[in-house]
Amino acid sequence: MFSLWSGKNQMKKQIKILIGTMTGNAQLVAQELELRFDGEGVAVETVDMDGLTPEIFEMDCIYLICTSTYGQGDVPDNARSFVEALDSSRPDLKNLRYGVIALGDRTYAETYCFGGKRFDELLNSCGAGRIGDILMHDASSGTMPEEEAADWSQEWLGLCESVWSHK
Ligand SMILES: Cc1cc2nc3c(=O)[nH]c(=O)nc-3n(C[C@H](O)[C@H](O)[C@H](O)COP(=O)(O)O)c2cc1C
Repeated sequence: MFSLWSGKNQMKKQIKILIGTMTGNAQLVAQELELRFDGEGVAVETVDMDGLTPEIFEMDCIYLICTSTYGQGDVPDNARSFVEALDSSRPDLKNLRYGVIALGDRTYAETYCFGGKRFDELLNSCGAGRIGDILMHDASSGTMPEEEAADWSQEWLGLCESVWSHK
């Protein structure tokens, strides 16, 4: 029978995509990746950041932060309380692995993709380890974020596979 477990004594193939969005682009990206990861036999869940607390983090799951940027390099409103809670509590996340998709717009040259970068800094400062490079999507480029994310996710998922096979 098909199994979500990658093998004996190995980590369950599980990804939670955490969504920070104002106008829905990050949601579209997450939905696209949910379909793709599901097709690869991964147990995947998308979660809006509204009202999230650091208790969401479980060490046997890989997290994918998918967030846009607003204001002067801020995270979107629905991600604010989550960022504040992480910043003030600084939980020990040294066994946590995560990836980041940062949506932004290069016309905001000083704060390009700062929302995703903020999460990366915070998680890194809590000891978590990033898988792969941050995907930064530029809304002024004319490309669709969900298409760029789908391309990026192939390599990223490959890196996740090696994490799962070494756990
Ligand atoms: C009012 C406003 C402010 C923004 N500020 C920034 C910014 O400081 N830096 C950046 O890289 N992108 C900025 N953006 C671009 C958005 O992050 C980008 O359009 C993104 O794709 C929106 O994704 P969402 O629909 O998931 O919220 C801003 C967009 C708007 C409308």
